[in-house]
Amino acid sequence: SGWSIRMDLTIKPLTPRLGALISGVDIGRAISDDVFGQIRAAFEQHSVLVFSDQPMDDARQIAFSERFGPLERTVPSNPAAGSVFARQSNIDINTGEAIPVDDRRMLYQKANMLWHADSTFKETQSLCSILSAREVPPLGGATEFASTRALYDELPAWLREEIEDLEVEHDLVYSRRIVGFEFTDDEAAAMPSAHHRLVQINPVTGRKSLLIGAHAKCVIGWPESRSRELLDDLLERTTKSVNCYRHEWKTNDVVVWDNRSILHRATPYDASKYRRLMQRTTVSFAAQTTCSR
Ligand code: OGA
Ligand code: MN
Repeated sequence: SGWSIRMDLTIKPLTPRLGALISGVDIGRAISDDVFGQIRAAFEQHSVLVFSDQPMDDARQIAFSERFGPLERTVPSNPAAGSVFARQSNIDINTGEAIPVDDRRMLYQKANMLWHADSTFKETQSLCSILSAREVPPLGGATEFASTRALYDELPAWLREEIEDLEVEHDLVYSRRIVGFEFTDDEAAAMPSAHHRLVQINPVTGRKSLLIGAHAKCVIGWPESRSRELLDDLLERTTKSVNCYRHEWKTNDVVVWDNRSILHRATPYDASKYRRLMQRTTVSFAAQTTCSR
């Protein structure tokens, strides 16, 4: 005795700038600290991790997600309100029936088709989201990812300098309004906006990224038009194809993405024809005070 078997994961990059397919581990079972350490290191390096053939139920997903840190609770307006899950689905989980396409819950989810990072409108940022595909449509419904870290690496020096110390206001009421979803006054009052540094520094790798996306309403202290111009320009530069990875879902896929350096968006599918049920857990980044270095 005195020796132990070291399990090595297989990590296969999906694009040169972001994304890796991880195999050789069953994330639905208890995993050792050594194996989780490899997953965590791959997360810091590749920003988006894809696991295939991982049948998940809610309890397993919670157990795996909690390895990354404490879980957020979902805002009252999400279909899975009050739980640790955000549900992206056209199925009412209580009845098993399809939610009508003109239902308020479907309009709410339409905003997922705008490039965004999760929970940037909250005071406490998110480290990562974990999305598991329970039921997927045979056509459409892919999710796209874009790396603001890859963008940062290629920004010209003058622009890096210009944005270095900026703070941005992120607001869910603002971003949902873009797709025509209005919160009630009570809902809106329960969701004040949040300020975050535009330039984020990863405390593990030291690499920089940008916190932008649909919830980013304005640069603090800048006039509206100049602010909009900068945020739109940065978003456009980020989402060109070399910075992107598109994930076509199979049932039992699990994808983890870094909300500090990755934007993502849903793509359309025919919700009147097909079922789609995705369960998301969201890990908060509680250790970080976002406005200090
Ligand atoms: C999410 C999200 C996109 C999708 O779960 O946070 O934006 O394709 N999902 O369901
Ligand atoms: Mn999202």
